[in-house]
Amino acid sequence: MKSYTNAVEILKKRFGDGPVDVVSRAPGRVNLIGEHTDYNGGFVLPFAVDRFTEVALRRRRDTRVRVYSSAFDEVLSVKLPLDSPGRRGGWPDYILGILREFSDLMALPRGFDAAIAGDVPIGAGLSSSASLEVAVAVGLVRLYGLDIEDLELVKLCQRAERDFVGMPCGIMDQYAAYFGEPGKAIFLDTRALSHRTVTLNLEDVAFLVIDSGVRRSLADSGYARRRGECGEAVSWLARRFLERRIEFLRDVTPEMLDEVRGEMPEVLWKRAAHVVGENQRVLAAVEALEAGDPVEVGALVHASHVSLRDLFQVSTPELDFLVDWGISHGALGARLVGGGFGGVTLHLVPRERKDGYIRGITSAYRRRFGLEAVVMEVRPGPGARELLLSR
Ligand code: GLA
Repeated sequence: MKSYTNAVEILKKRFGDGPVDVVSRAPGRVNLIGEHTDYNGGFVLPFAVDRFTEVALRRRRDTRVRVYSSAFDEVLSVKLPLDSPGRRGGWPDYILGILREFSDLMALPRGFDAAIAGDVPIGAGLSSSASLEVAVAVGLVRLYGLDIEDLELVKLCQRAERDFVGMPCGIMDQYAAYFGEPGKAIFLDTRALSHRTVTLNLEDVAFLVIDSGVRRSLADSGYARRRGECGEAVSWLARRFLERRIEFLRDVTPEMLDEVRGEMPEVLWKRAAHVVGENQRVLAAVEALEAGDPVEVGALVHASHVSLRDLFQVSTPELDFLVDWGISHGALGARLVGGGFGGVTLHLVPRERKDGYIRGITSAYRRRFGLEAVVMEVRPGPGARELLLSR
């Protein structure tokens, strides 16, 4: 397989000519539906997109590790062994987090030089961070000859982000980046940690990712707060329904929520109602996809946004505007994707309307907010892999 970006050339230019040992890559992801369900034991339906982070690696004889990021034009330089490295902030933390996880599993006798390149927009909600973690991890597995199962590697990447970077994420992003398949969505049960693929039977529909351009530093603290509220909702419901063994919001039914409406603290009820409804929407979306019903898929996608806006309260005026404009101009469905508080929206648009839609939404957004909405069309692509090298 061909190298998708020019990580190999960048490595040679930066760190000198000579053979390259490994090239690996991992995609970003879009979540079709199932938002804020992955840390509640629920269902998600993401797909890997045709945009990647690629890493080229070359062994060194000494214990130095040098990693060059072309997006930031910076080099991270550390020496092995990594004794409790501190966080530095920014992209190096994802690399350090992965290296630390590898160091826990095996001795890393020698260092390496690496170059990172790619076209996943950074910090936009397409999970550039998971694509970086997974690409680096897949490369290091080969470089060091680590024997590790697929799911364990995905969990390792999640731990790197959660425990080292400090973002208390679920497992969806790393899972999708690793297991994605062309033309398919990944129907993942985050409690069982198993999935099956669902064909995205939507040939006449374009998946447009429209970036609000808003980056909220609030996102991480808001995300952690929502996680905390879901935990409180579980504790409250577990006490109220002692006989039902509620471990996750996944275990809660709509009937139980109806019963405690007005009794349960309002905010906790809303958070739980989003998660319970969203899990049902994921199941319904899988059925609609399998029945070849794009209109129903679109309606569920939009219902997800409404719930994220009103019940889970992670939307912003900019995201709402993009979604509302879409729904009133022919989108089958549209919603914010990812954690919320900024970032991107996903629009399911009949292919024949695509060009006019893009022109219309970008100019309407500019008029309303004075901001440029960047539009990307994405297609469901393959998950992580190692590329064969012709050197
Ligand atoms: C972020 C996290 C995921 C998931 C989504 C919300 O992308 O990394 O694990 O929780 O937010 O669905």
